[in-house]
Amino acid sequence: MEGEKWVLMVTAKTPTNIAVIKYWGKRDETLILPINDSISVTLDPNHLCTTTTVSVSPSFPHDRMWLNAKEISLQGGRFQSCLREIRARAQDVEDEKKGIKIKKEDWQKLHLHIASYNNFPTAAGLASSAAGLACLVFSLAKLMNLKEDNSQLSAIARQGSGSACRSLYGGFVKWTMGKEENGSDSLAVQLADEKHWDELVIIIAVVCAQQKETSSTSGMRDTVETSALIKHRAKEVVPKRIVQMEEAIQNRDFSSFARLACTDSNQFHAVCLDTYPPIFYMNDTSHRIISCVEKWNRAEGTPQVAYTFDAGPNAVMIARNRKTAALLLQRLLYNFPPQSDTALDSYIIGDKSILGDAGIKDIKDVEALPPPPEIKDNMPTQKSKGDVSYFICTRPGGGPVVMSDETLALLDPLTGLPK
Ligand code: DP6
Repeated sequence: MEGEKWVLMVTAKTPTNIAVIKYWGKRDETLILPINDSISVTLDPNHLCTTTTVSVSPSFPHDRMWLNAKEISLQGGRFQSCLREIRARAQDVEDEKKGIKIKKEDWQKLHLHIASYNNFPTAAGLASSAAGLACLVFSLAKLMNLKEDNSQLSAIARQGSGSACRSLYGGFVKWTMGKEENGSDSLAVQLADEKHWDELVIIIAVVCAQQKETSSTSGMRDTVETSALIKHRAKEVVPKRIVQMEEAIQNRDFSSFARLACTDSNQFHAVCLDTYPPIFYMNDTSHRIISCVEKWNRAEGTPQVAYTFDAGPNAVMIARNRKTAALLLQRLLYNFPPQSDTALDSYIIGDKSILGDAGIKDIKDVEALPPPPEIKDNMPTQKSKGDVSYFICTRPGGGPVVMSDETLALLDPLTGLPK
């Protein structure tokens, strides 16, 4: 094989996911084994996903990786765990058209080039590592012809980042914590695909953050070491909520789904506060979004919208259906209008059709929005410009896919370098 010039590559697209029952706390830091099960919704990859091209060539002198066109180090323990686990399962590969044959044992000597791209700003703090690590594992598994199914691949992605394991499936996904010490049963399973409950609409508020946040990894380590509440949460609260959440998803019972998602997000932030020193992920804007949704839900008598927050101030809101999503968007735009120099087109991104449903065509329609009925006349309205960077409208979506169109590859087919 030495001296040969060929490059073989695979490109795949993998979604990000948002937990509605949160993962927070590890029982094994190296294998990334959690202290409780978690459940997530996969987000539509058209709006939030990672695309990764992986390539192999006898001419590559070492493994290299580029993220959003910038070279990054692959030396980290988590990358190395994923690469090692995948190489150990690699199979014979033959590409007849290109006349390439790779024997199982050759994969240990061959080097890889990997290029990854997020279709959303990495700095926005939107679980980019989940989609990224899942995409890395999925695309390498295809390149090396692994026999493992997506659930088994999820146990490899888990070793890159816990939440990544849930991005191996579309729709509604459960990460079972497992019992085995080697982590072989700590993996993701699909509860229902994205068509099962296709009425749901998701609106994400990307909230402006003042300070750099504590990473999930170190935050959850501190919580496990210092919080008394986390033990109660993992042992008593989450196991019951997992059963109830599975039922709510199966029955498309939005009221139960919303109550569970909101209370679980709030409890996750409560254990962050119970950590010493305390961790604050939500900010004033996050709190105002919660109170806007809570007031509306209470006024309606039944929940219209669920909210959930990860390790940052961004709000992920899940609306019961399109009609509710349009009403939610009106409320959000009333409370958080864009700054005068921001075009509506860049303030609402993703599925812009919700804007049409909300009767909003331009900025004048935003300015003309009446206060929502649940805001009482005697309450001062706190409109605040500039607290939200932008909103993303999306919905539950499908799992990872291989992209057969070679023109979409991020690496040059001849050199294996970023295009
Ligand atoms: C709040 O998966 O980012 O988003 O396993 O250390 O990489 P590591 O952490 P990560 O933690 C995600 C935490 C969360 C909740 C969730 O996604 O379940």
